[in-house]
Amino acid sequence: MPHGELPPGIERVLFTEEQIAARIREVGGEISERFAGRPCLKLIGVLKGSVFFLTELSRQIRIPVKIDFLAISSFSSKPGAPGLVRIAKDLDDPIHDEDVLLVEDIVDTGFTLRYLLRTLAGRGPNSLAVCTFLDRTSKRIVQAPVDFRCFEIPDRFVIGYGLDHHQLYRNLPYVAVLKPDSQRS
Ligand code: IMP
Ligand code: MG
Repeated sequence: MPHGELPPGIERVLFTEEQIAARIREVGGEISERFAGRPCLKLIGVLKGSVFFLTELSRQIRIPVKIDFLAISSFSSKPGAPGLVRIAKDLDDPIHDEDVLLVEDIVDTGFTLRYLLRTLAGRGPNSLAVCTFLDRTSKRIVQAPVDFRCFEIPDRFVIGYGLDHHQLYRNLPYVAVLKPDSQRS
């Protein structure tokens, strides 16, 4: 929790460092129970936003984990249109026959998640589940299954704990709402 003043551009804190840590412990426990008895769970993080969440989550999972990352780039045909997604950096290793948990920072329209699930499912994992740090179900356009989520959020642009605005704010230890007048690109 910031003491006193917030950095410029930030309207209010949505989830404090303490709330985030407590919730990730709970979700890590749920994941550990779901995959109890499995030899290993492969966590796949989507660069760059999910890195902060993934590292903390992995420490709260009580079965062996492996970690791999991919990066995507999304682009819209026109501003505000749903993004087209492609893989900009692929995984280092195959996921065939593995239990895979895709770890996302935020699921909004669902386009990114749907694309990633289709791509990963085609590689023959033993199982494929999704854990997202934040979920904005009110903005969902395409259905994409979320198995584990830490927080549902309102329809406001948020930053911190991995989430950025023009690559800034990822290192904030809390999640905050950006002031509308700071959101212009
Ligand atoms: P979608 O689910 O395909 O619409 O896109 C999700 C992606 O949009 C996330 O991976 C983020 O990169 C970005 N995004 C959506 N909402 C926010 C937000 O409130 N703050 C920061 N990034 C966001
Ligand atoms: Mg993202």
